[in-house]
Amino acid sequence: HMKRRKRWKNYPPGPVSFPFVGNLLQVNFRCPRLALTELSEKFGKIFSFQVGWKNVVVLNGLEAVKAALVQRSEDFADRPSFSLFDHMGYRKNCEGIMMAKYGHGWKELRRFSLSTLRNFGLGKKFLDQSVTEEAGCLCSAFSSKDGHPFKPRFLINSAVGNVMCSITFGERFEYNNEKFQRMLHLIEDAFNIGAGILSQILDLMPWLLYIPGPHHNILQPYIDTFDILREIVKKHKETRDPGFTRDFIDAFLEEIEKAKMDPESTFNEDNLIFTVFDLFGAATETTTVTLCWALLYMLRYPDVQRRVHEEIDKVIGRDRSPKIEDQVNLPYTNAVIYETQRYCDVVFAGVPHTTYRDTQVQDFFIPKGTIIIAVLSSVLKDETVWEKPHEFYPEHFLDADEQFVKREAFLPFSAGRRMCLGEQLARKELFLFFTTLLQHFTFHIPENQPRPQEDGHYVLIHSPDSYELCAIPR
Ligand code: HEM
Repeated sequence: HMKRRKRWKNYPPGPVSFPFVGNLLQVNFRCPRLALTELSEKFGKIFSFQVGWKNVVVLNGLEAVKAALVQRSEDFADRPSFSLFDHMGYRKNCEGIMMAKYGHGWKELRRFSLSTLRNFGLGKKFLDQSVTEEAGCLCSAFSSKDGHPFKPRFLINSAVGNVMCSITFGERFEYNNEKFQRMLHLIEDAFNIGAGILSQILDLMPWLLYIPGPHHNILQPYIDTFDILREIVKKHKETRDPGFTRDFIDAFLEEIEKAKMDPESTFNEDNLIFTVFDLFGAATETTTVTLCWALLYMLRYPDVQRRVHEEIDKVIGRDRSPKIEDQVNLPYTNAVIYETQRYCDVVFAGVPHTTYRDTQVQDFFIPKGTIIIAVLSSVLKDETVWEKPHEFYPEHFLDADEQFVKREAFLPFSAGRRMCLGEQLARKELFLFFTTLLQHFTFHIPENQPRPQEDGHYVLIHSPDSYELCAIPR
């Protein structure tokens, strides 16, 4: 064994590493969350390890994460380079949003995406309306199960996927549409691969990609997804009316036109494909899984479900659809949704950052180019902050008068410059889907089935193990 050379004074402590493969073999990939917790108990809230020649620093707890991502937000705003993406045509000013290096191109694209998602050029009501309509479709699909047991994930994923389709392509699909389902599957596969162990290993040994062999298949879902998206963009170009922006793709095509003379512009057709892919990947799995957890908690905690029902009956009744304005009048329901996000801990280790310059967190020195993992789980379950960090306890978000309260350590969307760009949309979806479903149904564990488990599986995302429920109309 070789010790990591102490090149820097006050660099965070960490485990002894092997040459070349670093600590890769020591990190327990079957449960990365547990591995991170164990290391933090041993080395402290801020510790380091090595993967190959790459230095990684891990931040745990509200104080450390805030000190980095919020107080020195630009220092921590960069992303690691993944050579995997180079093989798919990623290059400067053409790398999507999610993994784009910090700089002009990313800023331009982030500003554009935020404003397009917000106002949309189609009027402020557009998003609310498409989410409300989709919530109605989801309820019909639940009803069609006639109270029989079913796995909710497929339908929820379709509904959430459809919201993104409405925004980006200007159309939604029937849940059993084959092309639609194929696309959702491909995007899910591509994302899991990008996040998975294989990509880490390939990133250590990128030359593997030049040798023909089975590992090439790992790029196939990307290639297939990009083909589908290219086809959709082509149709948009053929049917476009320059005076009228139908959706995100149209808005992007307008920017491409404006930037025609600027070869450095981040608005180009390849980047449109990568950006749409990023939006789908970032939006669908996270929101779907959060909603699956929300229903799972309703099964496990019938008393909580009863209180949500009572509040919805009192404030909205049964005759009209919930709307986003109802949120302020539903403090308990809102607290349940926030607690779901806190407790289920979907993006438990965040998305990796890289230091943009030499910097410092608390008393530790961190050089430029260090990979940073801000463990969101350690903030959402910080024992110095929350009353009952390891229990599902909606009262975390209620004050003594049962009014809704925000909490500083509520960071499921992370913080700082790279913070989730879809928070507002996600909030709308979680609220409207959840309240509409609970307005219409009581959820039960199917007869003779065990209570579904609160420990799911961890990859990039913490998902529940597959479970069934019965949706009984109210
Ligand atoms: C990034 C969480 C939904 C688009 C992120 C990050 C987290 C996150 C933790 C990483 C932030 C960081 O690097 O520090 C979530 C959760 C969601 C959700 C928990 C739902 C419950 C969405 C939706 C969209 C979206 C609906 C799209 C409309 C993005 C994008 C990024 C991102 C584009 C990359 C931002 C950047 O690098 O500048 N999200 N997200 N997310 N999210 Fe979300």
